[in-house]
Amino acid sequence: MTIVVMENKIEQIKYVLSQMLDAKRLAHTFSVCETAVLLAERFGADKNKAYLAALLHDCARGFNGKQLIKYCNENVIELDEYMKNDINPVHALVCADMAKRRFSINDEEILTAIKNHAVGCENMTILDKIIFVADAIEPNRTGSDADEARNAAKIDLDEAIVPAMRIKSYYLKGKPMHPDSIRMIEKLNKIKSEKNFSPYAHWV
Ligand SMILES: [Fe+2]
Ligand SMILES: [Fe+2]
Repeated sequence: MTIVVMENKIEQIKYVLSQMLDAKRLAHTFSVCETAVLLAERFGADKNKAYLAALLHDCARGFNGKQLIKYCNENVIELDEYMKNDINPVHALVCADMAKRRFSINDEEILTAIKNHAVGCENMTILDKIIFVADAIEPNRTGSDADEARNAAKIDLDEAIVPAMRIKSYYLKGKPMHPDSIRMIEKLNKIKSEKNFSPYAHWV
């Protein structure tokens, strides 16, 4: 019974997404779903949560900047100083809020993974990391950074985050990263230094 209800809910979400996203973003979303489930299997996370977080991670990606700001104002989403000047990562906050309000997802782990998929944060959960990395390595992503992240994710999710962050930073065009991204990289650096691995060494 639970599975049937879940399947119905997923089909409903997919239908709404098909009305909200263009074909390319919809294909990206479904590819992130498949990749997130693979990563969840590989690293022992909850596959259903990974699937749902991936399904909704870009649900508001069809919004333009004005629509994102309007949504934030109407739904009391606070933007930090960085996001007031860089609209791109705001979509992650809006997607998490929409997942809760419009799609009735109340699982905080799922909502947090959606919220953190653009810039990351210092203390990423395994689900956060899975969605962050799956977003960057799904099969439609091409290029050396995607390949590097893909290969790293076969062994160690943490090692996949830095090349994944590079992919997410393409849009920055030389501007500094969000402070949460810097804190995330520094935390990884600290964790990995004991294993003789430096994320900064991979930051080219
Ligand atoms: Fe996104
Ligand atoms: Fe995405």
